[in-house]
Amino acid sequence: MSSSGDLAADRRFDLAMQLRGRGDVAAAADVMSQAIALAPRWAAGRFALAETLAMAGETTASLAAFKAYLELDPSDSMGAAARIHLLAGGDVPTFSESYVRRLFDQYAPRFDRALTERLAYAVPELLRAMIDRTLPARRFARAIDLGCGTGLVGAALRERVDWLTGVDLSPGMIAEAERKGAYQRLTVGDIVTTLAGERDLDLALAGDVLCYVRDLAPVFAAVDRALRPGGAFAFSVERGDGAAVTLGPGHRFQHGAALIHQLAGAGGFSIAAEQTARLRQDGGKEVIGLLFILSKIDQK
Ligand SMILES: C[S@@+](CC[C@H](N)C(=O)[O-])C[C@H]1O[C@@H](n2cnc3c(N)ncnc32)[C@H](O)[C@@H]1O
Repeated sequence: MSSSGDLAADRRFDLAMQLRGRGDVAAAADVMSQAIALAPRWAAGRFALAETLAMAGETTASLAAFKAYLELDPSDSMGAAARIHLLAGGDVPTFSESYVRRLFDQYAPRFDRALTERLAYAVPELLRAMIDRTLPARRFARAIDLGCGTGLVGAALRERVDWLTGVDLSPGMIAEAERKGAYQRLTVGDIVTTLAGERDLDLALAGDVLCYVRDLAPVFAAVDRALRPGGAFAFSVERGDGAAVTLGPGHRFQHGAALIHQLAGAGGFSIAAEQTARLRQDGGKEVIGLLFILSKIDQK
């Protein structure tokens, strides 16, 4: 956590965090308010206060504090819009690039251990098995891994692809992916922007990334333009309901099967394979997802 720039505010904040750690959230919120009164322009402190007020059940005060945070950090790098939505409802927000980048830059050094050792992360192997079953004889000359992260999907697919590009918003995740050596090219950037520069790809992969993207239509359109006819789009989503997009308590978007079918039909894809599976754990619970392989229809 950054410093407020005011020693007395920092001391009170540290005490508040200790109280919070011991479960005394009401006292923590009280002491944290005192810290913020001393450093009113400290965005990260205000966010923590808003979180603590929410934990204490002070919803109205928490919403006010999240809104005050947003005035200090309009780029919303800490994800206040999502918290406001989960507390008060209303339109499902998008995630800002700075939020995704910050989240995964922080997570990058411990991502692989956390996901594989503690969270039973299964998406890379599930995608690989699904591609092996559905397209057993296909060799992929050129592929892109969208939201490649530390490269777990690239490592799982490496033997089936000749030239693999990875793209991710987080430089920290890209630095970890570089160490795996599974990619011929790695780029820091957004999925849709990067796809705009790609043509005639044989395969696009998106493992556990579309849960950070509210609107999938631009992604599907960009993948459609970048694939050659007959090319495949293999991805996972967290399972939602029907055609609506929802934001889950884990701060990830959930997309329903009906929505994916709609987008595939509208975008010139046929569904080559579809599967429901356990993606990983979150807070001790299984996260259930949908995996798809879409095939770009040759419209000649
Ligand atoms: C949960 S990780 C999954 C990483 C990897 N695909 C895997 O299966 O291990 C999600 C990744 O997607 C990236 N990401 C999210 N939204 C993105 C976007 N719009 N453009 C590029 N990368 C994005 C994040 O930075 C993060 O590294």
